[in-house]
Amino acid sequence: MKAFVTGGTGLLGNNLVRLLLERGWEVKALARSSKKAEMMFDGLDVQIVQGDLLDIESWAHQMNGSDVLFHTAAYFRETFRNGDHWDNLEKINVTNTIRLFELAEQYEVGKVIHISTNATIRKRNNGEISDESDHMNPDETLNLYGKSKVIADLEIKKFMEEHHIPIVTIMPAWMFGPSDAAPTGSGQFVLNFLDQKFPGSFPSGIDVVDVRDVANAMIQAAKKSPSGEKYIVTAHYTSLGELFEILQHVSGVSAPTKKFPISMVYLSTWFTQKIASLRNKEVDMSLDELRVMTEMKRTSGDKAIRDLNLTFRPLEETLRATVEWYRSNGAKVKESITA
Ligand SMILES: NC(=O)c1ccc[n+]([C@@H]2O[C@H](COP(=O)([O-])OP(=O)(O)OC[C@H]3O[C@@H](n4cnc5c(N)ncnc54)[C@H](OP(=O)(O)O)[C@@H]3O)[C@@H](O)[C@H]2O)c1
Repeated sequence: MKAFVTGGTGLLGNNLVRLLLERGWEVKALARSSKKAEMMFDGLDVQIVQGDLLDIESWAHQMNGSDVLFHTAAYFRETFRNGDHWDNLEKINVTNTIRLFELAEQYEVGKVIHISTNATIRKRNNGEISDESDHMNPDETLNLYGKSKVIADLEIKKFMEEHHIPIVTIMPAWMFGPSDAAPTGSGQFVLNFLDQKFPGSFPSGIDVVDVRDVANAMIQAAKKSPSGEKYIVTAHYTSLGELFEILQHVSGVSAPTKKFPISMVYLSTWFTQKIASLRNKEVDMSLDELRVMTEMKRTSGDKAIRDLNLTFRPLEETLRATVEWYRSNGAKVKESITA
């Protein structure tokens, strides 16, 4: 089978490429920077296609002959930093994603596996666990990144009414795991823990999943799922306190012991973010990230577990692999910034 993977140098894309190769697929991977791609693929038998989602026409012909387009690339981690991101969010996550699927159909790609997020799922007010039926409207999202993904999902639905290329959507929870060079929010979280930057914990609740298990879900969906299906892929509902405890256990670095009330954390994060933005610096945790951690939304991965035959790694295994990857690949994180 032949795969075309966008976002090949990203956390999910890189793990997906590795798993596809392990399972005998031929892989072409899109990368903005060939320097970063060479570093992240490190001798793997992957054909690198250098290109940008802002200029799809120049490389789209490379999808010709692919059985599956795995679309993991998105304007994502940048949105939690200072600045106004809407233009990029709209262009990359919505308009050009639809254009990519039009071109995939034109080049006769067999199927698309699209990555959305469980941030598009609404929290149920009655305390029940949310599922795929709880899809938000664009004005309900916690941040502009979520809004762009909700709009993209709605546009994909419209697109499918007029086109025949099969599209299946995977909605992962917060992903942790190895090969997070950029790093994304979860990688930065682990690096901040290792650098003992957290003063303490606060009440929180969040769904998390191993990125390698999401990659497996994508391959399963490529093999099994009918067009139009959507799956939340999540493994563990956890808290900041539990993440700290496990990270302490797998890394040997002491976890912070103080506990703060949510109101105090909001106030200090708001203040820190204001000062950081005036000085054009980044914060360790943004208000947007804090909102996600304290929303206490819980989503169900039951449909994906059942239909895609999924099993998940224990959280300890995921965090151990993440810590080990950073300890042996610290240089890649630095190089990724300049690539
Ligand atoms: N991480 C999570 O917890 C999480 C949870 C739910 C859903 N998601 C979704 O999962 C997908 C993968 O995210 P990730 O976690 O792997 O984040 P990531 O490491 O930041 O990967 C994003 C990838 O998109 C690429 N990209 C960004 N803008 C591009 C452009 N203009 N043209 C071409 N490629 C571009 C990046 O390229 P570079 O490598 O050059 O930067 C990177 O490879 C995204 O769709 C994201 O929305 C992530």
